Amino acid sequence: MNRPSFNFDGGGIAEKYDEILVPVMFDPWADLLLEEVAPDPAWRVLDLATGTGIVAHKVASLLSKSGSLICTDISPDMLGVARQKLGKAIGQGQVSFQQASADQLALDDEEIDIVYCQQGFQFFPDHDAAAAEISRVLKPGGQAAVATWCSVAECEFFQLIVDCLEEMGLSELASKMRIPFDHMPAEKLENHFQSAGFGAVEVRRLTDELVFEQGTQQAYRTVYGTPIGPDLVKLEDEAIDAFKQMFAEGCEDLTSGDVTRCEISSLLMVARK
Ligand SMILES: C[S@@+](CC[C@H](N)C(=O)[O-])C[C@H]1O[C@@H](n2cnc3c(N)ncnc32)[C@H](O)[C@@H]1O
Repeated sequence: MNRPSFNFDGGGIAEKYDEILVPVMFDPWADLLLEEVAPDPAWRVLDLATGTGIVAHKVASLLSKSGSLICTDISPDMLGVARQKLGKAIGQGQVSFQQASADQLALDDEEIDIVYCQQGFQFFPDHDAAAAEISRVLKPGGQAAVATWCSVAECEFFQLIVDCLEEMGLSELASKMRIPFDHMPAEKLENHFQSAGFGAVEVRRLTDELVFEQGTQQAYRTVYGTPIGPDLVKLEDEAIDAFKQMFAEGCEDLTSGDVTRCEISSLLMVARK
């Protein structure tokens, strides 16, 4: 399989992701996800590819004393930040962590009521194996709620980054920036879960705004919160200046007063075992 991969370890990526990207993107989308599919307070919940734990953090506050939450991710760095964020809940013994690939979870068969996976599924190297693993750990009648970004053309901010990189001839970096967006169309997502034996599989497209209250400067900082940030800082100064200027020009159309707003769309798949 020749899909390029994205690495969330090293280079301070986990800390930057949590500080820069989570507040503007993943926090509001976690609210949307949980509005669409809320957990029962007494459920055993799996947050798969928990990253720095934004979905898990919100789920923990919704659970009663009889509910529990397990957070898994392949990246030790991302899990390290999640552990800190969920410190208080861990103290209550209701939240646990596991470093694991999504297709090899150290969980029993049929122990989970709901699996959340926000913007992680598209990165898994073997999607069928991951969907089968989700099915294995779910109780009969349990649900999977999986969100994956729509194509980069439907996510304006990231399309702008890709356009700038392509214009500069940095096609490898542009392809890398497409990874979270361009590899999981709705039909493919649906097929993976149908193949894993899920009965009812529904995929919807949700659109929201990505809002940078501090305008273009905040939008520019946010570029460095993505896993291409460490690649960008390695460019020559002239290339960085050219990128910054092109990006700022592209932001003009998206900025009104001090605020920059971009549309962003995600698929939300809900499947019942
Ligand atoms: C964009 S982040 C999303 C994190 C989190 N769900 C959120 O909403 O902020 C993608 C996450 O998928 C994880 N990931 C990538 N490949 C994985 C795999 N094979 N198994 C488990 N997690 C994986 C990464 O380490 C990263 O934390």
